[in-house]
Amino acid sequence: MMTTEPRLRIAMQKSGRLSEDTQKLLKRCGLKLNVSDRRLLAHVSNMPIDIMRVRSSDIPGLVMDGVCDLGIVGDNTLEEAALERQLIDQKYDYVRTTGLNFGGCRLSIAMPEEFNYQGIKSLNGLRFATTYPQLLNRYARENGINVDFCLLKGSVEVAPRVGLSDGICDLVSTGATLEANGLKEVEVIFKSQASLIQNPAVLEPSKQKILDTLLPRIQGVMKANE
Ligand code: PRP
Ligand code: MG
Repeated sequence: MMTTEPRLRIAMQKSGRLSEDTQKLLKRCGLKLNVSDRRLLAHVSNMPIDIMRVRSSDIPGLVMDGVCDLGIVGDNTLEEAALERQLIDQKYDYVRTTGLNFGGCRLSIAMPEEFNYQGIKSLNGLRFATTYPQLLNRYARENGINVDFCLLKGSVEVAPRVGLSDGICDLVSTGATLEANGLKEVEVIFKSQASLIQNPAVLEPSKQKILDTLLPRIQGVMKANE
């Protein structure tokens, strides 16, 4: 009888802010895989691991639902998904196995340069374009203001200029995109980096063994990068 050895399934971003660093990390951990092709479930040839390449916003749900054992995702995407899933009664538990020391950025509120900003209260009643309505909502609630939002999945910085919103709530890394679009950062609402997350259920022993091999390697790569 043929038995198939269980394989650890890890979700990662297919393309975008974290994909290059994620691929680099896996490579430096000694995983041999060919991610240059168009295959979305990549077989690691020298370890019982499969890499599933998906949209970043799908990674938290895939891990929380147990489709993938692990995922590499930005804390911003993770927290947004957890809040949203909680609201609609879907599983939103996960374990943050380790932070990964890359993909650092902040989620900030930014306003047109000419906006007269005098503290959080000046944002009350305004409308914001964002990909992160849950994080924005929580921030507004915690700070006793009411905000309205419109959802944009990208190019968020264009919204005030075209009359879609008063301001934006989006990721800032170097600040170049804000500057190029005549916006100034007024509040940081969430600090983010990439994390390795895991389904909260206990892994079957054979998969745990694979993770026990992988995790020290990840930690070794991070140490070397310090
Ligand atoms: C990301 C993010 C910001 C920008 C921040 O967008 O949404 O717009 O990068 O980086 P910076 O502060 O270094 O300019 P991305 O370029 O990935 O495009 P998208 O939002 O259209 O997906
Ligand atoms: Mg952007």
